[in-house]
Amino acid sequence: MNYFPLLRKSKPLFLILLLAIVLLVAPPLYRALSSHTYKGIPAAAPKDIAPIRDLMHNQVHPEYTMLSFTIWHDRPLTPAKFTTIATSSQRLKQLSQDLNGYVSLFQQQGWGERDTRFFDEKRLQLGQVATELERAARKHDGAQVTSFFLHLEATCQSCHKRFRPDLS
Ligand code: HEC
Repeated sequence: MNYFPLLRKSKPLFLILLLAIVLLVAPPLYRALSSHTYKGIPAAAPKDIAPIRDLMHNQVHPEYTMLSFTIWHDRPLTPAKFTTIATSSQRLKQLSQDLNGYVSLFQQQGWGERDTRFFDEKRLQLGQVATELERAARKHDGAQVTSFFLHLEATCQSCHKRFRPDLS
């Protein structure tokens, strides 16, 4: 059967057909194009892993506050304070490893490739900077401690800029 003469004659029919094609193609196209955009922090977490918000609030933030207080508001740095800084940095390094558990979880819950990769890079960066900070504290190097603490702050902020923009 040849439909084309019919289509040429019937403009409404042609338009309906065109609309049907657009409606059919639009949703998968939209999904493909928007798959890289951030979808939010998944609310559900399995029983064996705390919501990331709790980890941040109860563990990451207290170590950060301890560092900030010791470095900025409690001058001069004494050997005991360097030890405090080294201990908190070491904790942050461990916590950056705990963050690894959320990567595959968020992926399963619908995060796209770009969010997952970004999160993982920032998580690794946190571990690296915390390692440097711990090393500087163990050497009792005040200038390096200050400099790595600034890097650490920037790392927290750069991850939040994408996932919790209200924090930075
Ligand atoms: C790898 C990414 C990443 C890094 C690095 C990171 N965070 Fe977070 N942080 C998050 C995410 C994601 C949330 C949002 C959790 C939510 O809203 O469910 C968050 C939330 C928070 C919150 C809010 C918790 C609440 O009660 O709502 C605090 C405070 C926080 N982070 C502190 C820090 C500090 C301090 C650092 C650096 C030492 C840091 N974070 C580094 C990803 C990160």
